[in-house]
Amino acid sequence: MNKKAFIKSYGCQMNVYDSARMADVLAGLGYGKAAGPEEADLVILNTCHIREKAAEKVYSELGRLRILKDQRGRDGTPLMLGVAGCVAQAEGEEMLRRAPYLDIVVGPQAYHRLPDLLARAQHGSAIDTEFPPEPKFDFLPAPSVPGAVSAFLTVQEGCDKFCSFCVVPYTRGAEFSRPASDVIDEARRLVDLGAREITLLGQNVNAYHGAAPDGAAEWGLGRLIRALAEIDRLARIRYTTSHPRDMDDALITAHGVVPQLMPYLHLPVQSGADRILRAMNRRHGVDDYLDIIDRLRASRPDIALSSDFIVGHPGETDKDFTATLDLVRRVGFAQAYSFKYSPRPGTPAATESDQVPEDVKSERLAVLHDLLEEQQRSFNRATEGRVVPVLFERAGRRPRQVTGRTPWMQAVHVEVADANTGASLAGAVAPVEILAAKTNSLAGRIAA
Ligand code: 5AD
Ligand code: SF4
Repeated sequence: MNKKAFIKSYGCQMNVYDSARMADVLAGLGYGKAAGPEEADLVILNTCHIREKAAEKVYSELGRLRILKDQRGRDGTPLMLGVAGCVAQAEGEEMLRRAPYLDIVVGPQAYHRLPDLLARAQHGSAIDTEFPPEPKFDFLPAPSVPGAVSAFLTVQEGCDKFCSFCVVPYTRGAEFSRPASDVIDEARRLVDLGAREITLLGQNVNAYHGAAPDGAAEWGLGRLIRALAEIDRLARIRYTTSHPRDMDDALITAHGVVPQLMPYLHLPVQSGADRILRAMNRRHGVDDYLDIIDRLRASRPDIALSSDFIVGHPGETDKDFTATLDLVRRVGFAQAYSFKYSPRPGTPAATESDQVPEDVKSERLAVLHDLLEEQQRSFNRATEGRVVPVLFERAGRRPRQVTGRTPWMQAVHVEVADANTGASLAGAVAPVEILAAKTNSLAGRIAA
């Protein structure tokens, strides 16, 4: 029995992690990995609902896959189609009404039930968008396939913060932290399978509060990171995404004392105006954010910062937007994402009366984007001529090129003498002299 599955991930890194776990479940059912839908017996779209017409994009992708499915039905090599992730969760039964040819619809908290869903799907469409009482992590198989040099590990899921604009509390459910010993076991396993870097994931990863190994108390993220730093051969630790409210002292201190914890932090602030932060229900002000940045820099002076911004949240004035630009100038970001506010059905901001016109949002986005890009360029330029430690991940796109990352998340491309040298570098940390900086990557050579 050599069936094959193709899983396509959209959206955040948690979906990438989930897709890998679904692949582990499917491996247990005899499914290998397909390179594309054409050679697959099962295609799963692992979807994202965070912005824009996410659902519509999924339906049009499904429309294309349906043609393939019909063809395969006629050829006698049936193709099963599934939708997972946050669109599946948000749309639920509606998906089966609009795409009745779907075999399975599964929400993010029910992936451990895939075997049951696939069995049920033999007799018609099967759906599971419950928030089951049992955590899926207790039932998902441990990672078993040798994986990437840089691996993801979900330690926390869901969100209880209810920012005005965000669907996550509705699609991913309530906040949940995995027990520390489960996380440590999985991290050890990932390292045994070749990982040199682990990025701890959670929608609110720094709200982590998992059961301690001794069962007596709970560990926060800072404590968890210290424990993970004891794993041999684990060279680098990162975590994402954090909320300013949960940036506690133990975590800030960890940045100063754990060498494996990389000096780079994605800490979304969304807006630089107190009025808008309040409207967003972020539960912190601009000064709180700046204070956290100061403390982080005191703990780890070379820490680089990244953020997310939303322009055009309901009620945002020109003055509010200018305050956002001011905040960006004060902090100086190494990298950041900026988005136009997109009303998400079911969230409080979507029904506010003071929506910002689309053309105003577009103008603000362009201005903010230019400023952030300029900061990113100058951050990258500052590494020119320096020698920095690079963790090599894989062969580059061009022959005799290897690609890795600096501690500050910058992609670095290095030319090597031959393919063998390139292959032997994957998984190694080596000093690289940075020769040239571009907006999105650096070029360098192995330092003597
Ligand atoms: N509109 C625009 N951007 C959004 N984000 C989340 N919800 C929305 C929305 N409704 C952005 C936030 C968040 C990132 C993952 O996506 O900036 O940090
Ligand atoms: Fe998208 Fe959020 Fe779901 Fe991730 S958790 S897939 S970002 S909606």
